[in-house]
Amino acid sequence: MADNILNNSAGEQAKCLPRHIAIILDGNGRWAKKRGLPRNAGHLAGSETFRNIATYCKEIGVEYLTVYAFSTENWKRSTEEVSGIMRLLDKYLHEAIRDMRKKNIRMKVFGDISRLSPKLQELIHETDEISQQIEGFQANICINYGGRAEIVRAAQLYANDVAEGRAEGELTEEKLEGYMYSAGIPDPDLLIRPGGEYRISNFLLWQCAYSEFYFTDVLWPDFTPEELDKAIASYNSRDRRFGGVKT
Ligand code: FPP
Repeated sequence: MADNILNNSAGEQAKCLPRHIAIILDGNGRWAKKRGLPRNAGHLAGSETFRNIATYCKEIGVEYLTVYAFSTENWKRSTEEVSGIMRLLDKYLHEAIRDMRKKNIRMKVFGDISRLSPKLQELIHETDEISQQIEGFQANICINYGGRAEIVRAAQLYANDVAEGRAEGELTEEKLEGYMYSAGIPDPDLLIRPGGEYRISNFLLWQCAYSEFYFTDVLWPDFTPEELDKAIASYNSRDRRFGGVKT
């Protein structure tokens, strides 16, 4: 195997691998523009990068990868661009259904899928069902996702459970966490944003309370395993205190 963040020819070992990495896929449009290509060519290249990075994460032992592929605001883009992204999603879901068992990969979609086509919703349910039969690396793709909307949804689901007698007592952080799309999954240790912007854009607002952030100007389609190694090396240089003090 080639050198990577865990093993290298010098025999050095990384200190600590994030269990969960979250990535905002940004820069596809600019990548395409630089090459005189339509924006959807950038999304196609970005989806290939997603495949490479997910494979690499699995290979080095990251347990969860969550990517922000389509926000609740992205519907404002042209019909052509939106349908291009939905076609890519369709393609990836088909591939996932074919390969998940063989590759031992779970795949989940986070977000309000009710606005997606019935066909896509069906494919998402199918990947959910297969995921329940597998243990292993999990890729979460956020589609029609917004962090604030996720928190409101969780609160609403909790309120419904209280009204219908399925929940009672004081609402705690632990209880509300159980209503998030990410219920049962550890919070991201590392949040990566390629594409040169320095904001969180309504991504995993609840879950990123203590995540380490890594920003890079590299556009998402150009993001390589080496770039991920750099992000993990930066993560390893951080002093995570979770609000406490170092003893
Ligand atoms: C952001 O770049 C990217 C998106 C809004 C779409 C990302 C979607 C995919 C990569 C395809 C489907 C994904 C998977 C995982 C199957 P941008 O268009 O905002 O880039 P720009 O800032 O350069 O314009």
